[in-house]
Amino acid sequence: MTSVIAPVRWTGERLVLLDQTLLPGRELEREYTRWEDVAEAIRALVVRGAPAIGVAAAFGVALAARQSAASTGEALLADLETAIKGLASTRPTAVNLFWALERMRGVAAGLSQGSVAQARTRLAAEAEAILAEDVAANRALGDHGAVLVPSGARILTHCNAGALATAGYGTALGIVRSAHAQGKVALLWVDETRPVMQGSRLTAWECVREGIPHRVIADVVAASVMARGQVDLVVTGADRIAANGDTANKIGTYALAVLAKHHGVPFYVAAPCSTIDPSIASGAEIVIEERDAAEVRRIGPQQTAPEASPVYNPAFDVTPAELIAAIVTERGVFRPPYRF
Ligand code: MRU
Repeated sequence: MTSVIAPVRWTGERLVLLDQTLLPGRELEREYTRWEDVAEAIRALVVRGAPAIGVAAAFGVALAARQSAASTGEALLADLETAIKGLASTRPTAVNLFWALERMRGVAAGLSQGSVAQARTRLAAEAEAILAEDVAANRALGDHGAVLVPSGARILTHCNAGALATAGYGTALGIVRSAHAQGKVALLWVDETRPVMQGSRLTAWECVREGIPHRVIADVVAASVMARGQVDLVVTGADRIAANGDTANKIGTYALAVLAKHHGVPFYVAAPCSTIDPSIASGAEIVIEERDAAEVRRIGPQQTAPEASPVYNPAFDVTPAELIAAIVTERGVFRPPYRF
C-alpha cells in the first residue's frame, strides 16, 4: 500500500476497496467488477462513511455500464437504472449515496444519443471526477476548520470521519489533520464508537499512520474527560444535514452534543456540501438505518449478550441544529441560522 490512505480506487477496469471490516488487523484490498458485489460491499461495511459510500456507488454504476451487454443507448439506460436502484437500496441514511447516484443518472440520461462505448467511458470519468472532487473538498474544509482549532487543542471525535470514510483526507479528521500539520493538536480523544468500533478500529489506525497524538476511550468516558476540562472542542462528520442544520451522524453523536453543551465545549460538524440535503426541512425527515442485532450481541467472535435477547441497533442519530456551534464545509464555516 502507498502511504496515502485510498479506501476507494479505480484501475480503469476494476474498483478496488480497502476492506474496512478487517482493519486494524489486516490491510486487504478487494477488487470488484460487478455492481452487485459493490452493493454488497456497501451493505457489509467493506466501504463505509457517507462520502466513500457515494464514490463507491458511482463506480458501481460505471461497472454496470461495463457489465451491460446492451447495444443501444436505451437498453443501456435500462440496465443502469437497475444498478442505480440496487445500489440505492444498500444504506438509507447517508445522502451522499443518493447524491452520487443522481449525478450518475443525470450523466447517463444525457448520453442516450451516443454509442455504448462512449457512455462507458463517460460514466467512469464522472465517477473519477466525484472521487477527485471529494478529496479536494475535504482538503478545503480541513483548512477552513483548522481555523476553529486553538493552539494546544484537545479534540474529541466520534466514529471515523477520516480518509477511510471519504475518497481521501477526511472531514472531521481532515480538520484534525490540517490543525495537526499546523502544530496545534495536543491530543485527539478517539471514541471507540460501539457497536462497530469505527473509532478504535479505523480513526485510531489513521492516527497511528499519521503520527497524530491520540488516546482511545470507551464511549462512556467522554462525559468524564469533558467534566475534567480535558476537551476543548468536539468535531464529528455527518451522514445527512437537513436544511435547518439538524445532522444525522453515527449513533452516539447526539449524546456527545448534549454533553458538549452541558460542559460549554463547542461542538462542530464537518462535511462536504454533498452531505447537505436541502430537500428536507429538518432532521425529523431523515431515515435512520437499523442494522443487524449481531453487531450488538457480539464483539467479533465474542458473545456479549444472550442470543435470545432482543436488540435495538440504530446506526445513526440526529443532533438538533441548536446543539451545533458551526458546520464546516468546503465553502467555509457556516453558523446558524444556516443558509447553505
Ligand atoms: O456506519 P458508517 O461507518 O458508514 O457511519 C459513518 C459515519 O457515521 C461517519 O461519521 C459519517 O459518515 C461521516 S464520514 C466523513
